[in-house]
Amino acid sequence: MADHGLPGLARGLTNYGDRDFALYLRRSFARSMGYSTRALARPIVGIADSASGFNNCHRHFPELIEAVKRGVLAAGGTPITFPTISLGEVFLDPTSMLYRNLMSMDVEEMVRAQPMDAAVLVGGCDKTVPAQLMGAASAGVPAIQLLAGPMMTGRHEGERLGACTDCRRFWGQYRAGKLTPQQIDGIEGRLATTAGTCAVMGTASTMACITEALGMALPGTAAIPAVHADRLRAAEATGEAAVALAHSRLTPDRIVTAHAIENALRVLLCIGGSTNAIVHLTAIAGRLGIPISLETVNRLSDDTPVLVDLKPSGQHYMEDFFAAGGMGGVLRELKPKLHLDCVTVTGQKLGDRLNGDGAWVDRQVIRSAAEPFQPVGGLVALFGSLAPRGAILKRSAADARLFEREGRAVVFTSLEDLSNRVDDPALDVTADDFLVLQNAGPKGAPGMPEAGYLPIPQKLSRAGVTDMVRISDARMSGTAYGTIVLHVTPESADGGPLGLVKSGDRIRLSVKARKLDLLVDDAELRRRANGGQAAAPKRGYRRLYLDHVLQADLGCDFDFLRGGQA
Ligand code: FES
Repeated sequence: MADHGLPGLARGLTNYGDRDFALYLRRSFARSMGYSTRALARPIVGIADSASGFNNCHRHFPELIEAVKRGVLAAGGTPITFPTISLGEVFLDPTSMLYRNLMSMDVEEMVRAQPMDAAVLVGGCDKTVPAQLMGAASAGVPAIQLLAGPMMTGRHEGERLGACTDCRRFWGQYRAGKLTPQQIDGIEGRLATTAGTCAVMGTASTMACITEALGMALPGTAAIPAVHADRLRAAEATGEAAVALAHSRLTPDRIVTAHAIENALRVLLCIGGSTNAIVHLTAIAGRLGIPISLETVNRLSDDTPVLVDLKPSGQHYMEDFFAAGGMGGVLRELKPKLHLDCVTVTGQKLGDRLNGDGAWVDRQVIRSAAEPFQPVGGLVALFGSLAPRGAILKRSAADARLFEREGRAVVFTSLEDLSNRVDDPALDVTADDFLVLQNAGPKGAPGMPEAGYLPIPQKLSRAGVTDMVRISDARMSGTAYGTIVLHVTPESADGGPLGLVKSGDRIRLSVKARKLDLLVDDAELRRRANGGQAAAPKRGYRRLYLDHVLQADLGCDFDFLRGGQA
């Protein structure tokens, strides 16, 4: 046993049938890496490193991890890094979501199997933080999240650019024939110019804010830009906090409680956060046996204003949010609606943090509760005959003129069908129609890709149409915008009614009534019923995925990963 009173390197010994031999061998091999016995007797802080050459958002991790190590050493611990899977959003085929659960299993098993008294989880790009939090929650080891931080914006011909809301805006202009190939090529080189996660309130930034709201990251660290010196100081402080966690043994299940989850949902709604965060938060909560219902989301949404004016719902970027006061500014405005008794990773309660946290706030970016950016929350859940277990609409980033209407369905049966036909000049479609995409859900695609942002058919976009009602069982990038109904559950490939829609059917959308109905009678639907067309199981991980992935209302986690610890 190490003399600091923690098991340290003696935690979870390799099974040789002789514990003393296992410890002697482990120490010997650890010393072969140059560690002194004094260093090995200190609390061991594992640092989960998700850097990769295929992850641009994490390219500053070597420097960040050096700062974490500095903090661990200063606090009397010994830092030991280890690699995990990295999920670089745009480098993965068919979609990073297919691999989120795989990364969560990697994190869970390596945090549990390796001898560490606490873990620092270093992540940022969309799926990495959910995967790390899911894994840490299941591993039951004290853990703290260090976030990558957002990218800085770039400039193009006097205009400010930030991935990736502006990526979509310019691509839409290019599709509409308003930009030349030379112009779009110039923009391509300026959309993402620094390390860090997307510069707007996309999924990565949303998850960063939620992580701080949950209490799993240090106060004030969610929005610090990736390349800012404060991010390095936050990394150092995270290392120090990890040593304190090693001593306090404060595990994620005592931080991520039902009250903390409700706080995080409030924050998601008031920052105009990504629809993806509902799925990820549901999965994280599910690991600890905490249910999240979409009815609860609706109740909170009606009672939580949008306070943050950031793209894609508003105008500003993450670096502005940081300069404006960041999460402290948001949480103080939300304080009357928050559960202040929640313990954070520092051991401090949320209420204590907010009592002493009264810094300046830029009201251009973070509005007051008295004068919000929008009066109600950014997301709303819809139910009805087309979505019996719910669907999600990001109303803060949609065109309210399309919220109460009935339309004719124009159906695409798959992603391939969509890409083959959407720009066909002969496509029978008008701006008043509802575009419907089938077989793009968790099982159908598979992996529930971010394909819900169906492109406006080119003949309409060239005529000036910028938004239409679009409905699918897919997800949408948190950086996207439009009147887009997502996560229709059950998905079409799992027998959901979405799979029975035919072109020409009528669909009624009412955001006010929270309804999404297919106006086709039951007898006709029974005639059409085919049980869905899930992708054919393959070998290996994809087979595991297809056999066990759950629907969006259960966070798309695997059935065998939910609930308590192993
Ligand atoms: Fe990594 Fe957007 S691509 S956060």
